[in-house]
Amino acid sequence: MKVALVGFGTVGKSVYDMLEKAEGMTPGKVLMLPEFFTDPTFQTTDYNDILNDPETEAVVECITNAKAGYEYARAALNAGKHYVSSSKAMVAVYGAELNRLAREKGVAFLFGAACGGSMPILMALSQSRQMDEVLSVSGILNGTTNYMLDAMQRKGCTYEAALKTAQELGYAEADPTADVSGADSLRKIMLACAVSYGVLPSEGLNREGIESLTAEDVNHFAARGLVCRLIAKGGRNEDGSVYACVEPVLFGKNAPESSVLDNNNLAKSVCRYNGSLVLIGQGAGGDPTASNVLRDLVNIRAAYRHYLPADCKEGTAMNDACLSRYYVRVDGQDAGLFQAEEAEQDGSVCRIVTAAMPVKKMHQLAADIRANGRKVFFAAMAE
Ligand SMILES: NC(=O)c1ccc[n+]([C@@H]2O[C@H](COP(=O)([O-])OP(=O)(O)OC[C@H]3O[C@@H](n4cnc5c(N)ncnc54)[C@H](OP(=O)(O)O)[C@@H]3O)[C@@H](O)[C@H]2O)c1
Repeated sequence: MKVALVGFGTVGKSVYDMLEKAEGMTPGKVLMLPEFFTDPTFQTTDYNDILNDPETEAVVECITNAKAGYEYARAALNAGKHYVSSSKAMVAVYGAELNRLAREKGVAFLFGAACGGSMPILMALSQSRQMDEVLSVSGILNGTTNYMLDAMQRKGCTYEAALKTAQELGYAEADPTADVSGADSLRKIMLACAVSYGVLPSEGLNREGIESLTAEDVNHFAARGLVCRLIAKGGRNEDGSVYACVEPVLFGKNAPESSVLDNNNLAKSVCRYNGSLVLIGQGAGGDPTASNVLRDLVNIRAAYRHYLPADCKEGTAMNDACLSRYYVRVDGQDAGLFQAEEAEQDGSVCRIVTAAMPVKKMHQLAADIRANGRKVFFAAMAE
């Protein structure tokens, strides 16, 4: 199978190298932006060279610009080429539409590397949706924040020192906002929900990152045998609606999530018949991510075409029907904002463990507290 490429950066270069070695695959032309075009033997600046080449069966796209990726996808699918993307930003916005187009044209649209890096979690969820029932999906889907949380817990780093080291090691960008705010993890759980439930939740989502976490919080958790992880989670409510959010979660030290160290990732699905399945691996990096792109291509060769069900559509996450107990640390007194199971005034801060409450309500209360100029950190208690 001849495979053309769009994007020749960290992931694209690794995909190219792997295509040269993979059984039964050959790299086709690589589409380059004019300013980076250097070698006409394998590069082009004209996408039509790829679209009009009858031998090119598939296009792999590894760029960050979601709108451009969408345009490349539409053109490739319309030209009858299979399309594989590693871009969560693109699929989280345009996935449902591109799924319909790919099905209409009888070609594949796969994006395994866009959620979980090296871990084939979307394939597992897609298969489970067809022969089992996905009750929930969750995971540590961002390596940068896991590295920081682990460094704060095991090495006693402050938030600032953990972030600085993550940047020095190349795990975090100069602007780390997408990672530490949970935005990157949220896009990935949107894709996982779309694959599991045929609902791409684009509204009603809740997101809390790790920016409010302090070294004192981490010490407080460690003294109680708890480990903090940034978790993306989605699932079905009892009424059949779908919930999806990102928030810090506190686990006991024997939970699988607590053993995920450094910048590793974890993806967990819970299905009615299969029970719990946990994958642990690299969520980013050129070669690990490229390996999941190649896995999609191998699956296309075996006639696998779509992660998303035919009727996949955008929808609203219903996070008011999903309950959790929360640890909350808030400046001053809690003044009865929370129904507390435990509460302790610790100098100028109040630490509370709440009774079970809706995810949506917790996120709204935290926003209200911040709007009043007070600091707050919260984390769900893993049950
Ligand atoms: N890196 C990872 O570990 C990882 C893991 C999972 C998923 N992903 C996803 O994979 C995608 C690629 O990530 P990356 O880390 O490989 O990014 P990257 O290193 O920035 O590479 C992207 C490359 O594509 C080029 N490009 C941008 N717009 C283009 C266009 N319109 N046409 C052709 N080429 C274009 C870029 O050129 P310029 O430099 O000029 O912009 C750059 O060389 C992203 O969507 C990312 O979210 C990455």
